[in-house]
Amino acid sequence: MKEKIEAVRSDIANRSISNAAELESYRIEFLGSKGKMKELFGELKNVPNEQKKEVGQLLNELRQLAQSKFDELKEKLEEGSENEDRLDLSRPEEFVPLGARHPLSLVRAEIIEIFSRIGYNVSEGPEIEDDWHNFSALNFPPEHPARDMQDTFFIQKGNDPKEEFALRTHTSSVQVRVMETQKPPIRTISPGRVYRNEAISARAHCFFHQVEGLYIDKDVSFADLKQTLLYFAKEMFGEKAKIRLRPSYFPFTEPSAEVDVSCTICNAKGCNVCKYTGWLEILGCGMVDPNVLEASKIDSKVYSGFAFGMGVERIAQLKYRVNDLRLYSENDVRFLNQFKAAF
Ligand code: DAH
Repeated sequence: MKEKIEAVRSDIANRSISNAAELESYRIEFLGSKGKMKELFGELKNVPNEQKKEVGQLLNELRQLAQSKFDELKEKLEEGSENEDRLDLSRPEEFVPLGARHPLSLVRAEIIEIFSRIGYNVSEGPEIEDDWHNFSALNFPPEHPARDMQDTFFIQKGNDPKEEFALRTHTSSVQVRVMETQKPPIRTISPGRVYRNEAISARAHCFFHQVEGLYIDKDVSFADLKQTLLYFAKEMFGEKAKIRLRPSYFPFTEPSAEVDVSCTICNAKGCNVCKYTGWLEILGCGMVDPNVLEASKIDSKVYSGFAFGMGVERIAQLKYRVNDLRLYSENDVRFLNQFKAAF
């Protein structure tokens, strides 16, 4: 009996198994209901009583050996088949749904790209701003209507009315932060979100996006400003784009202008978007007021500069013909999915 046990033990040890079919025949041969283990245990009754204990123990050990070899190989083969699945190059590829960039991100990226080609870097500032950066340093007189509660969201920190902040109403506040911390020459654009206390409609929103531009150096002229904006309009709207400047007023620039671009929708022939004028307003600009330079400790006798500010939604509207401002913040995937192909 002991020899038989020994023979089965070496059978088990020497059996090589490399696939599931071989493992199954091993199981049947050794562990199955008519297998060798069953047979050996059947023979236990013929073993003389005084050897039963010893032989019984040997049989138990053998059964454990057979079982653990089976378990081990089973696990190994299963792992292997998973790996094979992963490496099956003939499997059809999995469908990965394509995301889309938000139209405002696309336009912002394009504006940054256009200005970076002529040496502008990007700077950013906080959306919660103090009176100095949003108004005072930009030459807003204390009683200027833009500080009025109607336009500005004010925030008070604690109970101290002196600790009053505003949600910035324009990205011109970043101009001030840049001028305070950098020395000319400065050539920067500042994209960001701004807030105004307005009723939400198709044409107005309580938040929107702007890109501010600032160029400060010796001998910067109004002609430089005009040429920069013409370059921008052509890059953004196409080689045929024209611009025109209309005199305007901003506290932080002197002289100031509003800039129209020839209507890209009707090629300046006249349509309902340009209200049959052939022109669309896209930005405000001007020569930085000497008071603004001095407020940030830049010598206005040595340096001059220009600034401009444009609405990102406005440019996106002209580029993608989106007529309702609310669409930009509703997260409607039917709207957003239309920008999949635009990079
Ligand atoms: N900050 C102005 C606004 O929000 C836009 C603007 C106009 C910015 C003229 C400028 C500028 O830098 O020079 O309406």
